[in-house]
Amino acid sequence: MTAWHTPAGQLDPAKVRAAYPILATKPGGRPLHYLDSAATAQRPKPVIDAVSEFLLTGNANPHRGAYTLGSMATDAYEAARTRTATFLGVPATELVMLGSATEALNLVARSWGKGNLSRGDVVLVTEAEHHANLIPWQQVTREVDADLEFIPVDDVTGEILWDRLDGLLKLRPKIVAIGHVSNVLGSIAPLAQIAPQIHSVGGLLAVDGCQAVANMPVNILGTGADFYAFSAHKMGGLFSGGGLWARANLLEAMAPIETGGDMIREVRLRDATFAEGTQRFEAGTPDASGTVALAAACEFLDELGRQQIHDHEVRMLERVLRELPEALPDARILGPKNAKDRAGLVSFSSDLVHAHDLATILDRRGVAIRAGHHCAMPLHEQLELSATARVSVAPYTTDEDLDALFEGLRDARKIFER
Ligand SMILES: Cc1ncc(COP(=O)(O)O)c(C=O)c1O
Repeated sequence: MTAWHTPAGQLDPAKVRAAYPILATKPGGRPLHYLDSAATAQRPKPVIDAVSEFLLTGNANPHRGAYTLGSMATDAYEAARTRTATFLGVPATELVMLGSATEALNLVARSWGKGNLSRGDVVLVTEAEHHANLIPWQQVTREVDADLEFIPVDDVTGEILWDRLDGLLKLRPKIVAIGHVSNVLGSIAPLAQIAPQIHSVGGLLAVDGCQAVANMPVNILGTGADFYAFSAHKMGGLFSGGGLWARANLLEAMAPIETGGDMIREVRLRDATFAEGTQRFEAGTPDASGTVALAAACEFLDELGRQQIHDHEVRMLERVLRELPEALPDARILGPKNAKDRAGLVSFSSDLVHAHDLATILDRRGVAIRAGHHCAMPLHEQLELSATARVSVAPYTTDEDLDALFEGLRDARKIFER
């Protein structure tokens, strides 16, 4: 294949690492073993170069300048939207570029939700949702007096009980809002199976794709979703960036929740008419540099191969699932037992070592993992856990990173078993 692969066509993480300058740095004087890509992915050099190039040679305010540089900025921004749309398998005309997935999920709840929900209507989410796909629905259902209902999780493993969906669909939810991949459980939602079930009762399917798009092949149109939100910084793009795909007929009927420059057709002193399509939801100066970076991130992930990325990550997760119980025998692993049913991450707890202590001890070896509730407090409460430790992998994760993880886990065990 390319410079990033073995002769057998598998991703070669040692080669991939070379594209990520930060991985050669030594924070605190220790080699970096970055196992927190689910929080934010590291940025490859081609992304950093694309942003520099835009800022050095193409920077102007898009959609405004009548001069050459202004048109170049507009072209760069729109070309980046088109590249991102191709990556996601959707038409560019249906892809709203926003500052984050949080903004995208709020747009669905506050625009579609407020426009379509009323007293007694039902919104269905899972008990495992990230706060960004929960709180906006809490707010809107409270405001319009609709009901928020939940697809439950297993009290021990946290796995989402999809077999309960059938029963809950009898409530005829107007929308079901779920994560494609859980940022705590690592489990992959069976979208292709549940989308027709949801549609058959007249409901819509809104998907939070934050943890999916960088870790596995995702063709949004093929998922059956009606809305799909994603985040640039989880994909190797900048912190600012992300967006919402929505079916054209839904977008057309939605009101903007932010108003101002760039999203209008005509403005008079006392009223205004709004632009058509995606532009109606992109008020103010668009994040051109963030969008250019996002397109470069899509290009790079495609170059690595999204199936190859997923296969590599599954190999890394298989090792985590196999060796974690040896390194820390009391570890309670959340989510699916089989790495093939996961994307990108494994979370666990231990009665012996608190997640925060674990993260601190691992940091002494340069191993960066996440400890806490991962913006999913209700799930942790359901599992009677105050915090979990989360290991997340990426195309640049190597066996050496995992060796350092397991050595650190053994250190922690020795300290707390004393
Ligand atoms: C599943 C999930 N949803 C939503 C978000 C929020 O994304 P953003 O940081 O782009 O607002 C995250 C990020 O942590 C996430 O993991």
